Amino acid sequence: MRITGKTAVYGIIGYPVKHSLSPIMQTAAFEELGIDAVYVPFEVKPENLKSAVEGLKALNVKGFNVTVPHKEKIIENLDFLSDEAEVIGAVNTVKNEEGKLTGYNTDAEGFIRSLKEEGVDVKGKRILMFGAGGAAKAVGYSLLREGVKFLNVVNRNFSRAKQLGDLLGKFGNVLIYPLKEGTVEILLKDVDLIVNTTSVGLKDTDPHLFDYSKIPEGVVVVDIIYNPPETPLLKAAKERNCKVINGLGMLVHQGAVAFEIWTGEKSPVEKMRKVLEEELY
Ligand code: ATR
Repeated sequence: MRITGKTAVYGIIGYPVKHSLSPIMQTAAFEELGIDAVYVPFEVKPENLKSAVEGLKALNVKGFNVTVPHKEKIIENLDFLSDEAEVIGAVNTVKNEEGKLTGYNTDAEGFIRSLKEEGVDVKGKRILMFGAGGAAKAVGYSLLREGVKFLNVVNRNFSRAKQLGDLLGKFGNVLIYPLKEGTVEILLKDVDLIVNTTSVGLKDTDPHLFDYSKIPEGVVVVDIIYNPPETPLLKAAKERNCKVINGLGMLVHQGAVAFEIWTGEKSPVEKMRKVLEEELY
């Protein structure tokens, strides 16, 4: 591409940031729509977060993504927050408008769009969610906002599940449980959609969350992990005639929502997915 004095600058801050897929995905999106912009990685150590954000503002960087470990800490450096970011307590996208920074969290909307593109509507549905970490906050909030019947949350660390229940309880019917085989077995009898937000399944040495042979036939099973593309949970679900969805769609759509916030243009979702698939698989 040709960089001129008019080229807009976007980026991502994180530490580490080397493995981020966002530069590939957002660069492809700008190219596809012929937008005169670049998107670059910025490695920012935790102790430099404040000065980095000041610098991004001073340099008139138009927008940036935020990744580990800055998603929560950045909030104190921003001027405004979207409702989602406020509830979730984490920001993954920032827009710079004349030096005023607004923080957004696009994971929630990204997750819902990834279900909708697969024809899954969660309104009125019974949900079993594993995990109570950062990802669970965004996924749980998005499901409640869509009007699920109830959200059963199972987590290994029960006090963390409690915290999540307290946070999300005002948006709908949230019930929390410890991760125990017998408990999960009972919950599996009353479910339409199972979602894994934990990191279990990332490594092939990981334990199983529960006995996957107990997954009811025909329910929808979602894993927000995208690499590997098929976790043991999804493999078992597929064998039981379940519709399965991995995390690639969520990755694509959280980026697509960010792109729309920055540019006001409809994101080239298929192009973004294609470059990620080429990079990952
Ligand atoms: P993220 O931001 O990706 O959600 P996180 O906040 O560290 O990351 O959350 C990780 C989630 O994976 C938690 O729900 C964690 O359970 P605990 O709260 O009990 O730690 C879950 N998790 C990680 N390894 C796990 C394992 N071996 N078995 C069960 N849950 C696990």
